[in-house]
Amino acid sequence: MVTVQNLVVVGLQWGDEGKGKVVDYLSEHFDIVVRFQGGSNAGHTVKTGDSVFKFRIIPTGAVRGLRTVIGNGVVVDPIVLTSEIDQLHSEGIEPDLLISERAHVITPYHLEIDSLQEASKGNHKIGTTKRGIGPAYSDKVQRVGMRMCDALRGRDGPQWRAFEDHARRQIEQAYGSEVSERLSGDLIEFFEAVDRLKPFMGDTGDSLTCAIEKGERVLFEGAQGTLLDVDHGTYPFVTSSNCVSAAAATGSGVSPLSISDVLGVVKAYQTRVGAGPFPTELGDAVGTRLCTVGHEFGTVTGRSRRCGWLDLVALRYAVRLNGAKYLAVTKIDVLSGINPVRVCVRYELNGRETQRVPPDLDTYSRVRPVYEEMSGWGEIESPHSLDALPREMIDYLQFIENYTGARVSIVSLGPDRSETLVVPGVIPCLPRHA
Ligand code: GDP
Ligand code: IMO
Ligand code: MG
Repeated sequence: MVTVQNLVVVGLQWGDEGKGKVVDYLSEHFDIVVRFQGGSNAGHTVKTGDSVFKFRIIPTGAVRGLRTVIGNGVVVDPIVLTSEIDQLHSEGIEPDLLISERAHVITPYHLEIDSLQEASKGNHKIGTTKRGIGPAYSDKVQRVGMRMCDALRGRDGPQWRAFEDHARRQIEQAYGSEVSERLSGDLIEFFEAVDRLKPFMGDTGDSLTCAIEKGERVLFEGAQGTLLDVDHGTYPFVTSSNCVSAAAATGSGVSPLSISDVLGVVKAYQTRVGAGPFPTELGDAVGTRLCTVGHEFGTVTGRSRRCGWLDLVALRYAVRLNGAKYLAVTKIDVLSGINPVRVCVRYELNGRETQRVPPDLDTYSRVRPVYEEMSGWGEIESPHSLDALPREMIDYLQFIENYTGARVSIVSLGPDRSETLVVPGVIPCLPRHA
């Protein structure tokens, strides 16, 4: 049987689709799990029995004791990362972790600048997670950033002095703000954390390429979601990295030819944290119900997530951008008891219908969703086979398949690892289930 050697898992909406759960579930079939973009803005939840893990940087494969890699495309906050390592230790897990020496670091200055930047925007805030993501990626692109290999050389290293001058100037000149006293304490903690990470650092591109050549199987764990992608998302209400599958190669240092396939994770309805257009957002009782039943509160910031009907126009766009052949549909249990259910199949703009995702914010903010209405289904008791799913739920899943052209391979019916059904024979990388 042909198996998928290396699979990229990405979010197809505005993040929080359940990537952590799906990656954890699939990781049983892989040797290595890799994060390739984003940073501690991510919050990936894994639930197995009574244990709940919430990862921000460490790939979720750590739960199963797999080899994990943080690629060069990630922006690493060393303080957050060391605290996650400590958390794993407290659960009796010794992470097998390799961190790219080329990954840029998030310094206390970046955290400060993220907050100042947001505050200076008044009503035009992006609603960032304030984890320093935008400032760290900006410095990387401006060629003034700090990488792990630079940070290791400490405060006396050549890169730090230039970086610190630049960061302080930015705070003082761009934001007219004094550099906070608190930062000096944070910097001590920052460099201590960098030192602790030294044993984990290496050349991740080289190591992954060798592993792939030996036939080991690599699972790439995307963070955020396609509609938050800096090129393809609802710019400027996006994150500062590419979250699409193509970034798995650039962000981990392997050849794009070594990526065999792509699975997109899609929540059965739509959510968004932070500002930006959201055509199918619901301000009514159904929206409140989705938020309450789905526990839609940010894993990182605790903010409540905006909720709405599934947007198939945006989903088809995301499937195309990622080359996602397979879908994992999550949280479909949350729709139980809602009747009818709706999915957006077209946008209406100035009296005309379109199935295109507009590039500009102004137009995107004015599109009105056109819905297809479908029969809902009643409450379900976490079924253990696809045959036990209500007919209306199967119809809903088939509608998604027909609209997007991607195959539903996993159906998730609850947060726990055990509440997962695999559609047999769809993904050739699941030999133990097929
Ligand atoms: P990620 O960022 O894509 O990994 O997603 P998050 O972990 O931020 O958010 C997903 C939330 O939904 C987490 O609390 C998960 O435990 C939970 N979850 C995942 N899959 C399901 C599901 O199928 N049903 C329900 N009810 N909850 C789920
Ligand atoms: P996971 O991996 C949901 C959103 C923020 C904000 C925008 C920019 O858990 O799916 P940033 O801090 O990245 O500069 O914020 O992006 N955002 C996320 N929303 N899930 C995430 O990650 C997100 N990471 C960033 O809310 O709107
Ligand atoms: Mg999340």
